[in-house]
Amino acid sequence: MNRFTLPRDLYHGKGALEALKNLKGRRAIICVGGGSMKKFGFLDRAEAYLKEAGMEVKIFEGIEPDPSVETVMKGAAVMQEFEPDWIVAIGGGSPIDAAKAMWIKYEYPESTFEDMCKVFGIPELRKKAHFVAVSSTSGTATEVTAFSIITDYQKGIKYPIADFEITPDVAIVDPELAETMPKKLVAHTGMDALTHAVEAYVSTANCDYTDPLAIHAIEMIQRDLVNSYNGDMTARDNMHNAQCLAGMAFSNALLGIVHSMAHKTGAAFADHGAHIIHGAANAMYLPKVIAFNAKDATAKKRYGVIVDYMGLGGANDDEKVQKLIAFCRDMNDKLNIPHSIGTYGADSYPTEKGFVPEEIFLERLPEIAKNAIGDACTGSNPRQPSQEEMEKLLKCCYYDTDVDF
Ligand SMILES: NC(=O)c1ccc[n+]([C@@H]2O[C@H](COP(=O)([O-])OP(=O)(O)OC[C@H]3O[C@@H](n4cnc5c(N)ncnc54)[C@H](O)[C@@H]3O)[C@@H](O)[C@H]2O)c1
Ligand SMILES: [Zn+2]
Repeated sequence: MNRFTLPRDLYHGKGALEALKNLKGRRAIICVGGGSMKKFGFLDRAEAYLKEAGMEVKIFEGIEPDPSVETVMKGAAVMQEFEPDWIVAIGGGSPIDAAKAMWIKYEYPESTFEDMCKVFGIPELRKKAHFVAVSSTSGTATEVTAFSIITDYQKGIKYPIADFEITPDVAIVDPELAETMPKKLVAHTGMDALTHAVEAYVSTANCDYTDPLAIHAIEMIQRDLVNSYNGDMTARDNMHNAQCLAGMAFSNALLGIVHSMAHKTGAAFADHGAHIIHGAANAMYLPKVIAFNAKDATAKKRYGVIVDYMGLGGANDDEKVQKLIAFCRDMNDKLNIPHSIGTYGADSYPTEKGFVPEEIFLERLPEIAKNAIGDACTGSNPRQPSQEEMEKLLKCCYYDTDVDF
C-alpha cells in the first residue's frame, strides 16, 4: 500500500495570505526568521489577519537560516507556555522547518531530537495545535511536505525529520511574498526546486500520482527560473507555484542522493567560514548524480522522458542523459552558481579557489560519504552507492570531473 498526503487546504495566488483571517482558534503563534518578513510588512499583515480572526497572537522571531536543534527547543518551550492551537510559520524553508520540529516537541515535550529523526516515527500530532505554513522562498516547498531539516551544529550535520504527521494542515502559496527575494536566493531556491522534481521523478518511490507533478514542475522551472532570476515578476510568481508542485511530488515520491550529499556537506565545513547553501549544493551535485544514476536502466529511461518533455532533443537515452546534464550545467552558469565545491566561494559565487581547502575536504571525505549513505534520502535513490562510489562521486563534485563509474 502506498500513501499520498498533502495539506488539506492550499490557498494560492496573490493576496492568499488573507486566508489567515478564516482560521478558527484561540491562540496563534507566528514563527518567523531574521527580519525579511517584518521588513516587507508581511509579518504585520499576518498578525493583523489572525487578530481579525479573534485570536491572541504571539510572535517567535529570529529563527536562523539552517535552524539548529537549540532553536527548536527554545521555540517549543515558548509554545508550551503560550499553548497555541495554531502554529503559523512564515518565511523560507528555515523558519517553517524549525516550527515543524517545535510542533513535535510541543505536542510531546518528552521527545528528544533523536526521537524526531526516526524516519516515519513521529507519534500522532494535532492534539494541541494545527499548522499553517506560508512560504516566502520558491524552493523547499516545505509548506506542503512531510519534511523538516534541522542542523546539529555540534556534529556539523543536517538531519531530515520525515513523517506525514508534519505535513502542514494549511499551505499558503502567495507569490507576493516571493517577489522580494534577492537574486541569489531566487537562484538557489529555484535549483533546489528543480532538484526536487528530478529526484522525485527517478526515485524508486515514484508513482502515477507524483509523476505529473514532477514533470509539470520541471517544465515550468525550465520556462521560468532564469527569467525570474533576471527580474521578470510573472516568471517569479510562476516559480512559486512550480516549486510547490515539485514539493507535492517529492513529499510523496521522496528524493535521492543529491539531497543526501547536500545534507551532509552543507554544514560540514562551517568551521572554515561558510555553509554550502542547500540549493547551490544541489545545483552542483545534480549533474554528477544524473551521470551516476543513469547507469541504472530504469533511471536512464526516466531521465529520457524528462528530456522529451523538456524538448531538449537527443537521439537515444544516452544522448538524452547528456542533454539533461548540459541543461543543468547551463542553468548554473546562467544563475551564477559554481560547478564544484572546489570553486565555491564563501559568498556562494564561483571563484578560482573555493572556501573549502582541498586537504580538509579529503580528510573529511570518508566520514561525509558514510553520513551521506546513511541519510534518509539515500534509500529511494535509483542506484545504491557503495562507500567507495560515494567517495568518488563526492570527489567529482569537488574537482568537477566526469562521473564514469
Ligand atoms: N523541509 C523540506 O522539505 C526542505 C526541502 C529542501 C530544503 N530544506 C531546508 O530549508 C532550508 C533553506 O530554506 P530556504 O532556501 O527557503 O531559505 P531560508 O529560509 O534559509 O532563508 C534564506 C534567507 O533568505 C531570507 N528570505 C526569505 N524569504 C525572503 C523574501 N521573500 N525576501 C527577502 N529575503 C527572504 C531569509 O531571511 C534568510 O536570510 C535549509 O535548511 C534546507 O536544508 C527543507
Ligand atoms: Zn531541497
